[in-house]
Amino acid sequence: MSSFTVLPVMLQLFMLLFLASPATPCTEQEKDNLLQFLAGLSRDGGLTTSWRNSGTDCCEWEGISCNGDWAVTGVSLESKGLEGPISPFLANLTSLLRVNLSHNSFSGGLPAELMFSGSIIVLDVSFSRLNGPLPKLPSLVTTNRPLQVLNISSNLFSSQFPSATWKVMDSLIALNASNNSFTGNIPSSPCLGSPYLALLDLCYNQLSGDIPNTLGNCSKLKVLKAGNNNLSGILPVETFHATLLEYLSFPNNALQGKLDGAHIVKLNNLATLDLGGNHFSGKIPLLIGLLKRLEELHLGSNNMSGELPSTLGNCTNLRIIDLKFNNFIGDLGKVNFAILQNLKSLDLMRNNLSGMVPESIYSCSNLTALQLSDNHFRGEISSKIGNLKHLSFLSLSRNSFTNITKALHAL
Ligand SMILES: *[C@@H]1O[C@H](CO)[C@@H](O)[C@H](O)[C@H]1NC(C)=O
Ligand SMILES: *[C@@H]1O[C@H](CO)[C@@H](O)[C@H](O)[C@H]1NC(C)=O
Ligand SMILES: *[C@@H]1O[C@H](CO)[C@@H](O)[C@H](O)[C@H]1NC(C)=O
Ligand SMILES: *[C@@H]1O[C@H](CO)[C@@H](O)[C@H](O)[C@H]1NC(C)=O
Ligand SMILES: *[C@@H]1O[C@H](CO)[C@@H](O)[C@H](O)[C@H]1NC(C)=O
Ligand SMILES: *[C@@H]1O[C@H](CO)[C@@H](O)[C@H](O)[C@H]1NC(C)=O
Ligand SMILES: *[C@@H]1O[C@H](CO)[C@@H](O)[C@H](O)[C@H]1NC(C)=O
Ligand SMILES: *[C@@H]1O[C@H](CO)[C@@H](O)[C@H](O)[C@H]1NC(C)=O
Ligand SMILES: *[C@@H]1O[C@H](CO)[C@@H](O)[C@H](O)[C@H]1NC(C)=O
Ligand SMILES: *[C@@H]1O[C@H](CO)[C@@H](O)[C@H](O)[C@H]1NC(C)=O
Ligand SMILES: *[C@@H]1O[C@H](CO)[C@@H](O)[C@H](O)[C@H]1NC(C)=O
Ligand SMILES: *[C@@H]1O[C@H](CO)[C@@H](O)[C@H](O)[C@H]1NC(C)=O
Repeated sequence: MSSFTVLPVMLQLFMLLFLASPATPCTEQEKDNLLQFLAGLSRDGGLTTSWRNSGTDCCEWEGISCNGDWAVTGVSLESKGLEGPISPFLANLTSLLRVNLSHNSFSGGLPAELMFSGSIIVLDVSFSRLNGPLPKLPSLVTTNRPLQVLNISSNLFSSQFPSATWKVMDSLIALNASNNSFTGNIPSSPCLGSPYLALLDLCYNQLSGDIPNTLGNCSKLKVLKAGNNNLSGILPVETFHATLLEYLSFPNNALQGKLDGAHIVKLNNLATLDLGGNHFSGKIPLLIGLLKRLEELHLGSNNMSGELPSTLGNCTNLRIIDLKFNNFIGDLGKVNFAILQNLKSLDLMRNNLSGMVPESIYSCSNLTALQLSDNHFRGEISSKIGNLKHLSFLSLSRNSFTNITKALHAL
């Protein structure tokens, strides 16, 4: 009895599946928009052939993904050798969530329709030779956009970095605009519009002027990079209100001022502090020892002075200490390097350090690079240097060492 009732149900289900799946693939409209995108290119890297050979259901096409309703949600055409302009027709795919067009050779700019799309949450057009200014906020767009990740890095974008844009980007989590030719100031508004911003990478551009004090309002910010620009002025106090910061990096700019310990300790999640190649002066603050998570400290090529604080030895996670080209004085005896068991690179080249090289350095068994040249170190280098089994780079020149024969033997 029961088998009689089950069978028709299964048959029905079978027929439903059979009829439903092949009969409603992606709509003509979705397909059209993809073909318009293709038609806009000057070189398609074989995509036309590939798509034609894959049949009429665009959900089956190379690089295209769809949701359960056969609407296109993903376009992943990275490294496909595409050339020519990016057609705005792509933005007509109203269910589109993820677009990855990185590593192609497009020409022209980024269509405003894509950047201000009402559906896209991840847009990666990095390494794609796009140029011109970023599109301006269209006057029609007044409501918040869903975009969370925007990677426009390593293109040829130029002109002022837009500021109005970010007002409608209240979902933005990651913005990577590094390695372009943006000019003008860092916009003062990125986080006022985007409260969730966790990653902001502006390095390798031509940004100038002061660092805006509003960056401290980026309360979710973890990664802030703006190295290799032409920024000047000080690191505003407000920057240290962004207490989730793990990566703070402004190397090779024209920043100045002193590092205030009372401010810097607020960043107790900091793993990388990179302020090398600026005009910072003053001492390394004693309170740096409270940055327990610090792994990389880059303060080279500044105008810093004073003795290295003993508390440096409290940053037990340090892997890299780069203090080269400064005016540090005194001997290293106060720093207990033996605690820094993760230390891989210690660069103290061209300072005014003196005294003996402390024995504790020879317990840093993971040390691969030790640069002490151009200082006033004296005495002997202990044969314990032979303990440093991973040492592959050692510079001792232009010091006042008496006899390094023993050391050389030990190595
Ligand atoms: C599709 O996109 C093009 C280019 O942006 C636009 O001109 C056209 O109006 C759009 N069509 C639809 C149906 O949205
Ligand atoms: C885009 O594709 C490249 C290459 O496969 C990949 O490295 C990158 O992570 C992708 N971008 C995103 C946002 O997933
Ligand atoms: C672009 O940036 C996003 C966010 O940081 C990242 O997920 C993606 O991998 C990057 N793309 C490439 C090609 O590196
Ligand atoms: C930004 O993109 C570049 C490639 O263009 C990459 O090297 C860099 O790591 C990215 N920045 C972050 C913070 O992920
Ligand atoms: C910067 O972008 C160019 C392409 O515009 C690329 O060749 C280069 O590798 C990028 N540099 C970095 C550091 O990502
Ligand atoms: C930005 O942060 C400061 C405190 O650092 C606060 O006084 C100000 O109200 C904040 N501004 C906004 C728009 O949240
Ligand atoms: C950097 O900015 C200064 C003014 O702050 C300006 O004089 C200089 O020309 C700029 N340098 C570059 C390479 O843009
Ligand atoms: C370097 O710092 C000293 C104080 O330690 C200061 O007198 C001098 O003007 C600074 N030099 C430059 C070029 O900033
Ligand atoms: C920090 O280092 C100093 C000097 O080496 C030491 O006396 C002190 O106990 C350390 N503090 C912590 C919390 O490790
Ligand atoms: C040396 O570094 C390796 C990883 O690079 C780590 O696993 C090891 O614990 C380190 N050695 C010491 C003594 O910390
Ligand atoms: C360098 O140190 C010596 C003593 O070792 C001192 O006489 C000299 O003034 C120092 N120079 C600078 C620029 O600090
Ligand atoms: C340097 O030290 C070695 C080994 O201890 C010794 O044999 C040599 O005579 C010393 N040379 C000088 C110039 O003191």
